[in-house]
Amino acid sequence: LNNGLALTPPMGWMSWGYYMCGVECETVPEKCLNEQLILSVADKFYREGYQEAGFEYIIIDDCWSERYRGKDGRLKPDRKRFPRGMKFLADYIHARGLKFGMYTNVGKDTCMRYPGSRGHFSTDAKAFAEWGVDYLKVDGCFVENTYLDTAYIKLGHHLNKTGRPMVFSCSWPYYKKFIHHTNADLEQVAHYCNLWRNYHDVVTHWPAIVGIMSYFRDQNNVIRQFHKPGQWNDPDMLILGTNSLTESQSRVQVAVYAMWSAPLLLSCNMNRIKPFEKQLLQNMDLIAIGQDALGIMATPYMLDDALTLWVKRRLPAKGNKYHTFSFALVNVGDYDAFASFSPSEYGADSTDIYTVMDVFSGVYLKNITRKTVLDVVIPPEALEKE
Ligand code: DGJ
Repeated sequence: LNNGLALTPPMGWMSWGYYMCGVECETVPEKCLNEQLILSVADKFYREGYQEAGFEYIIIDDCWSERYRGKDGRLKPDRKRFPRGMKFLADYIHARGLKFGMYTNVGKDTCMRYPGSRGHFSTDAKAFAEWGVDYLKVDGCFVENTYLDTAYIKLGHHLNKTGRPMVFSCSWPYYKKFIHHTNADLEQVAHYCNLWRNYHDVVTHWPAIVGIMSYFRDQNNVIRQFHKPGQWNDPDMLILGTNSLTESQSRVQVAVYAMWSAPLLLSCNMNRIKPFEKQLLQNMDLIAIGQDALGIMATPYMLDDALTLWVKRRLPAKGNKYHTFSFALVNVGDYDAFASFSPSEYGADSTDIYTVMDVFSGVYLKNITRKTVLDVVIPPEALEKE
């Protein structure tokens, strides 16, 4: 969507992956989605380096409202969990230079049966704008296939009419494909949305990440064409900070998402992020790959059943006319894997010297030419990058 927003993939935090509905505040306080949680995420971003690293959007997912609209037809935030309303949250977040996101559904109900926006696009768009929303995630539960193709366009039109810039995140292709078994016209989706979900919800265990990686690899030819500044495929949230991944698996998720130029949306209790995870999330060489201004999704090469080489062409370094390249080798098998390749086989065309850097350690390893053969051993579930 050409609205001047999301020129690099959005980074931030979203409630659903870890907190889900988060309404059982008395019985499950650890997973309570309320005002205090949102404020605490803003404080963490502001005080602990996440904002400097680029994490910006704080997004409330489903289950934020009362069960019914008010008499005036407007959506009402749950008065127990959000006593001071949404504008208060937005102001608090904005005061820290961060951005605020919310959620609705194009259907009559949200996926968790809170009121959805069907029949109320204009009213709801105005409310989101009044509240100071900067990012709107729009789900596609409980609607017919043909309606999906008009609903997102119409809602987008109403959002635009408010005059408030809002990143527009759509689940349109996901529902077309996995609920209605038809293909979305991604060119159209990219024209109306800043980002879109095209695969199942992530859950907090490693096989979900392997599934997402397989899908993005197998669909790469199709989805990469529409992936660029202002319009991004969204593989769903990061699951770091939820104690579900090993260190190497965590490296894989962040690195592969960066290689894709995918949104980096955390979903976790920010107090539970381990030191190595924080370091990874604030690794500026890694973030620079994800936020590269060209926004090209890495291309996958299957070197064998378990080993994929992802290659990303990036903006040339300052003062250089040749592109920078990033390589990520992902081994999802049970044994060591071996790769032997030269950068020139994957598009590196400089006749000059390349400097090889290990992005995880920040160490400059060596100088090579494009023809130099790199021999790499990749332990299972680990990732080497050069
Ligand atoms: C389905 C979406 O894909 C999830 O990310 C989340 O928004 C839930 N719906 C909320 O009900």
